[in-house]
Amino acid sequence: MRRYAHTTSLLLLLFFMFHLVVSEIPSNQRTTMINSIISSKTTRPNLLFLGISAETHIDTLESIDLSNNYLSSIPSEFMTYCGMLGGLRGLNFSWNILSGSLPNFDGFLKLEYLDLSHNSLSRTISLQMDGLVSLKLLSLGYNQFSGSVPTHLGKSMVLERLVLYYNHFVGKIPEDIANYSNLIEIDLSYNNLSGSIPDRFRELPNLQVLFYLQ
Ligand SMILES: *[C@@H]1O[C@H](CO)[C@@H](O)[C@H](O)[C@H]1NC(C)=O
Ligand SMILES: *[C@@H]1O[C@H](CO)[C@@H](O)[C@H](O)[C@H]1NC(C)=O
Ligand SMILES: *[C@@H]1O[C@H](CO)[C@@H](O)[C@H](O)[C@H]1NC(C)=O
Repeated sequence: MRRYAHTTSLLLLLFFMFHLVVSEIPSNQRTTMINSIISSKTTRPNLLFLGISAETHIDTLESIDLSNNYLSSIPSEFMTYCGMLGGLRGLNFSWNILSGSLPNFDGFLKLEYLDLSHNSLSRTISLQMDGLVSLKLLSLGYNQFSGSVPTHLGKSMVLERLVLYYNHFVGKIPEDIANYSNLIEIDLSYNNLSGSIPDRFRELPNLQVLFYLQ
């Protein structure tokens, strides 16, 4: 049973007035301060609204951790804004109640880890993440994604960890996954996949962990 299944009706508005905060602190403290604002956890449900000023540029912001909240969607303004952040390396939206399709990641050129695990995201995945040219860790476990296992996971092919367990992916394991020659870990367990592990996976020089439990 999902932890937050009973919390869908309440409304929480969180407003991040970046421009007010940023203008008053020295630049070397900005990342920390903004991280702590963004990371501030709430025990109250539900919808989170992020209001971000378009004129603000916080290039020192390295990671955004919004895990363990009650977020039911990611506003498109947030995606647009974060896509432009020159130094953003990590985005963590795990343990929320996000539903619908995976958003498109436009920009995000430095993003190295993306954690959207433990949500209710669904539908198929095609090219939404292809532009994530620095992506090293992708965690989409415990969602309801369907269709085939995605193979477009950052077109510069630097992915190291691919965690897709507990979804509804169907069909065979695509051998194109082996194009990501830096892969260290692949976990495809508990989907609705059929067939065996492609021979090409044996060619992956760094592969240490491969889980395919059904
Ligand atoms: C994201 O946040 C969760 C919960 O706070 C944590 O367990 C997980 O390790 C984080 N993911 C990454 C990639 O750091
Ligand atoms: C993987 O590599 C093969 C050729 O080696 C290519 O035909 C295929 O399009 C590549 N797939 C992806 C998803 O990059
Ligand atoms: C799993 O896939 C098979 C065929 O590939 C299909 O018949 C079955 O309904 C699927 N089950 C689920 C739970 O999606």
